Amino acid sequence: STPPHVPALVIGTGYGGAVAALRLAQAGVEVRMVEMGMSWDTPGSDGKIFANTTKPDYRSFWLRTRTKQPINNFLGFPLDKDVPRHTGILDAEEFGGITVYQGRGVGGGSLVNGGMAVTPRRERFAAVLPSVNADEMYDRYYPRANAGLGVNHVDVAWWETADCYQFARVGRKHAQRSGFAFVFVPNVYDFDYMKREAAGLAPKSALAGEVIYGNNHGKRTLRQTYLARALATGKVTISPLHEVTSVAPAAGGGYVVVMNRLDTGGAVVASVSMTAGKVFFAAGSVGTGKLLTKLKATGALPGLNDEIGKSWGDNGNVMCGRANHMWDPTGKVQASMPTAGIDNWDAGGAFAEVAPLPTGIETYASLYLSITRNPNRAAFTWNAATGKVDLNWQTAWKQPSIEAAKTIFDKINAKEGTIYRTDLFGSYKIWGDHLTYHPLGGAVLNKATDNHGRLHGHPGLYVIDGALIPGNTTVNPFVTITALAERNIEEIIATDL
Ligand code: FDA
Repeated sequence: STPPHVPALVIGTGYGGAVAALRLAQAGVEVRMVEMGMSWDTPGSDGKIFANTTKPDYRSFWLRTRTKQPINNFLGFPLDKDVPRHTGILDAEEFGGITVYQGRGVGGGSLVNGGMAVTPRRERFAAVLPSVNADEMYDRYYPRANAGLGVNHVDVAWWETADCYQFARVGRKHAQRSGFAFVFVPNVYDFDYMKREAAGLAPKSALAGEVIYGNNHGKRTLRQTYLARALATGKVTISPLHEVTSVAPAAGGGYVVVMNRLDTGGAVVASVSMTAGKVFFAAGSVGTGKLLTKLKATGALPGLNDEIGKSWGDNGNVMCGRANHMWDPTGKVQASMPTAGIDNWDAGGAFAEVAPLPTGIETYASLYLSITRNPNRAAFTWNAATGKVDLNWQTAWKQPSIEAAKTIFDKINAKEGTIYRTDLFGSYKIWGDHLTYHPLGGAVLNKATDNHGRLHGHPGLYVIDGALIPGNTTVNPFVTITALAERNIEEIIATDL
């Protein structure tokens, strides 16, 4: 029988995919979205859809039998534990030299991320996306993305006294005493909701420490924003638990898309095919990078160029903790949503997010996720022997990130008479240099694609996610991914439909 045909198929339901689906649907196009993760709309036996950060369970990890928590140690105790294998929400995807954390499910990374919605400084944009007109981005597409995502600012007067931001005020004090710029950053978490949590008027989510395994309340994920609007058009259908494995030219034009339907144990229960006039790769930097690398190497998409799989970076992510003195407690209850960072980009190549450590107990620890100027770039390659795609990133390539982060924290430690924590990422290990939350690149704009995401060699194929961005955004990436998707889909709708 002939497979069903859809005018447009979007692979993945994260930022790029959600923007593409909404704008195509508004232009009158029927859209099928295909998502390997679950739909995350049904509560578990505890009445909650999402598990708590401090108590990972079957919902927390993508097809693992043991957790792989980003902070895996505390005061000498390993934190990881056995969990049932399930199509959970956070994928700790392991490559040779790096673990890449990604959201799995309808909403992609918006389900698990910290919600920090940061627009890069205008003068730094040329280094982020050199072929893109910055005036258009800052006049039109960044504002459109911020509005579409429901970005809001914390009420600083409330923040100044809220118990749950004690950790951030300690972070500010230490930054400023060492002469660093401390900047507030917007977020998509609804800060009015958080105020009600703090006042005991609403069920707690950020104030219960929920974040990397999902938020039960308060967070404006893509499910509340772009995807809700896309579904409301009546033109968008989402198929969860469908993992795309192949895209190849169809005999009569368009493309054949092949996918595995999964059960919640990760087993393949069916193979499904569709044909599509246009296919949008929105599987995230790693998902899109891996898929295109495989499709080029195996000859399914022979027209793709040699830029496929290249220019992959980790946004310079590196984590560390500092041990504060007893007179600088960081608070028992910490809002899981960061509100601020330390900006030492120009002098030291680091922007450090003042991160919560929502353990529910006083730790006297300050935690930071630094985004740094790291020039190293990796490539995806097809491994015919294993039938998998490898990434050649090496752990040692984080050294420039550690040096950049040290421009901030060595100075703060010297000034405060404090030391680094050595217990959070192993025993006697200061730097969380084995991971990233911010994979970027793999099918870079104006290299693997034209300047609007059209893949070279195969008309009707597009990349519209973090794979387009060559490895670094100087800040947290999802606002830039969203704004770039808004820019590209506008051009594609105007010219290619
Ligand atoms: P994204 O990863 O969002 O979506 C891709 C989707 O495609 C996923 O749902 C995936 O399951 C699906 N998929 C992949 N392969 C597929 C296949 N073969 N078939 C079908 N579906 C497939 N950023 C930020 O700006 N501020 C922040 O505070 C944070 N915090 C943060 C915390 C944590 C813990 C993580 C893991 C990440 C962040 N991030 C962040 C990063 C941010 O979430 C990330 O940059 C974006 O989600 C990337 O958006 P994309 O659209 O590129 O892909």
